[in-house]
Amino acid sequence: MTNLLDGIDEILLMGPGPSCVHPEVYKALNRFTLGHLDPHFIKIMDQIQVLLQKILNTDNKLTIPVSGTGSAGMETCFVNLIEPKDKVLILINGVFGKRMCEVATRLGADVEVMEFEWGTPIDPGQVKEKLARNSYNLIAMVHAETSTGVKNPIEEISHIIKETESLFLVDAVTSLGGIEIKVDEWGIDAIYSGTQKCLSVPPGLAPVSFSEKALLKVKNRKTKVPNWYLDMSLVGEYWQKDHKRAYHHTAPINMLYALYQSLLLFFEEGAKNVFQRHVECHNNLRVGLEELGLKMYVEEKYRLPMLNAVAIPEGIDEAEVRKKLRFEHNIEIGGGLGPLAGKIWRIGLMGHTAQVKNVERLLTALRSVL
Ligand SMILES: Cc1ncc(COP(=O)(O)O)c(C=O)c1O
Repeated sequence: MTNLLDGIDEILLMGPGPSCVHPEVYKALNRFTLGHLDPHFIKIMDQIQVLLQKILNTDNKLTIPVSGTGSAGMETCFVNLIEPKDKVLILINGVFGKRMCEVATRLGADVEVMEFEWGTPIDPGQVKEKLARNSYNLIAMVHAETSTGVKNPIEEISHIIKETESLFLVDAVTSLGGIEIKVDEWGIDAIYSGTQKCLSVPPGLAPVSFSEKALLKVKNRKTKVPNWYLDMSLVGEYWQKDHKRAYHHTAPINMLYALYQSLLLFFEEGAKNVFQRHVECHNNLRVGLEELGLKMYVEEKYRLPMLNAVAIPEGIDEAEVRKKLRFEHNIEIGGGLGPLAGKIWRIGLMGHTAQVKNVERLLTALRSVL
């Protein structure tokens, strides 16, 4: 029987995720698997928590990686923090805000949304007006909207939400490890991310962090968390120091080695340097694209460095361009989603992918394809 794994070439992953995995992270995945209660593995778990707290700028005790992709992080936050009939406000300007709405609605929450045009940021002024007239148990938004390349003005919005009693929930799937996140300073009560973007780990883990206020909400629930696998009061017993370390589910050991290694790499390089590397690559890409006559889709002030939305010029078969990049140049870029399908390409410069030489390789390939 042919082994399909033999046909896998190294692809330069420049789409919306997954991103290229760092070679040291591949090495970490290849280490011997330990038992999930092995004392050495528990030391690694403790360090992962410390490093996640550091990268998120938080003292939150419950800061752990959930087993599952970014969407499992999303489910974890909603499933623990809302109960049926809770009033939830979701600020939407792309696919992942919409997904939050889908998740919250399924849990029986009383969901209200504020929608902003895709490709534009959430408007803090409108949010302020809305909150002057209404109160919510929880307000949720996406920091880096991967479907459009927009960086939402989270700090401004955080000041507005701090004036209310609401829990503040943030999606940091694409932002974590690429731009700064200040969980405590911004008063974020729950945040989730994923490993396959700027952390340069394969998909499969979702770092989450819950504030004391969020944990109080979990503690005072009138109903059980309706999802056993993601119930933080149970998962926390396994993860947290000074807790029982009780078996809940078998942790994905080697993926956790990978996350640990990627966090070590992040701090070895230094947060500021990592963020600067993303910005430098983004700037080089923008200049190169402009030389090719291509335009960025998002207004400069709100552009994400790690996810670049590029307007597709008239008369170009966008899928054909992506196909040629993939099969003639071994480069993957993404297409648009929802209302932006056929209108934009999404070029990811995330984590290990964010290197000047990769930007140059893509620009050379685009020059020949276009
Ligand atoms: C902003 C954002 N939120 C959530 C998700 C969902 O993550 P996953 O696909 O890993 O489940 C993604 C994935 O691209 C994302 O970009």
